[in-house]
Amino acid sequence: MRMLKTTFISILIIAMLIVASGCGAQTEAPSETKPAETGSTEAPAENAEAKTEEPKAEEPVEETNPLEGQTITLYTTRHYDSDDEIFAKFTEETGIKVEVVKDKGKALIEKLKSEGDDTQADLFYTADAGNLAHAKAEGLFQKIESDVLKANIPAKLRDTDDMWTALTTRARVIVYPKDRIDPSELSTYEDLADPKWKGRILIRSSSNQYNISLVASFLNDNIMGKEKTAEWLEGFVANFAREPKGNDREQGRAAYAGEGDIAIMNTYYIGKMMNDKKDPEMKAAGENLGVFFPNQETTGTHLNISGAGLLKASDNKEAAVKFLEFLSGEEAQEAFSSRNYEFPANPNVEVQNELLKSWGEFKTQDINLGDLGKNLEEASMMMDEAGWK
Ligand code: FE2
Repeated sequence: MRMLKTTFISILIIAMLIVASGCGAQTEAPSETKPAETGSTEAPAENAEAKTEEPKAEEPVEETNPLEGQTITLYTTRHYDSDDEIFAKFTEETGIKVEVVKDKGKALIEKLKSEGDDTQADLFYTADAGNLAHAKAEGLFQKIESDVLKANIPAKLRDTDDMWTALTTRARVIVYPKDRIDPSELSTYEDLADPKWKGRILIRSSSNQYNISLVASFLNDNIMGKEKTAEWLEGFVANFAREPKGNDREQGRAAYAGEGDIAIMNTYYIGKMMNDKKDPEMKAAGENLGVFFPNQETTGTHLNISGAGLLKASDNKEAAVKFLEFLSGEEAQEAFSSRNYEFPANPNVEVQNELLKSWGEFKTQDINLGDLGKNLEEASMMMDEAGWK
């Protein structure tokens, strides 16, 4: 009995010593890593073990969130509530905050020019390739280096010098009241200059960037070319139902109300009208409008983009690029299409929205959106000359 007791006590003492030495190794480790940091390479095996264990515990935290707590500032022309939700998701996932400044394209470009290097802005995010072309021409952007963006967004939807990238696409289409207009009457943009449309066409003003980009696309030689575009503008403007006023949605509402027969609109506005929770008349108009994709047998429908460029003056380049990468990814792309009815720019993202799916595939113009910039000024002048208010 005594033998057993002695053995038990011995084992207990040995066990306590082992535990004590183990604890010692752990509690001493932090102080012992210091010499290693100052250059000591010769460390006892035990210490080496303690040192390799320590960074392992901290590394993942640093690696997943190296930019946590940073704030990026976005100058944007976009005015969609769904964007705020997508940006909040980015903050939730990365810890990077997003400040948003909203205004019209021209105003933001002027603001960026006057602020110069002192600007808080990191990104210029806008609807329409025309706005991006203007900002690029003003020298506001720097090259975006990102393999993720290159993998997510096709080259034809990125700037040729990688100064900006598309994040969504949208088509500029013809809409018609389904109860009054037979879509077999519709065919091409060119046809809208025919006198049969006299007093029937609704479209917003010539100062609107969507319209300037539409006409600029026609100026491409493989679409209409300059001469035909000038001719077309004369006939088209002569067919307006009223002097241009209001935004895209107001054209759709006016077509539904009978102020004209057809309207030119961007596709996503149909989805927004149909889901309008504040304005029952707008909702009714959206539900009663058909969408027609012009030029399917010829040059294709005008496709434009919404996208963003990295500003030369950005102080948070890494976080800004991470933001663009997030927006090009599956989660954000799906949200852009299901919440704002835009088409994903990332071809790997499947459209799940029923309305967008109901429109099906359609042929688009074969033009480089990065080159659209070179025709904008001429398009704008020609629209003025044709009397498009
Ligand atoms: Fe818009």
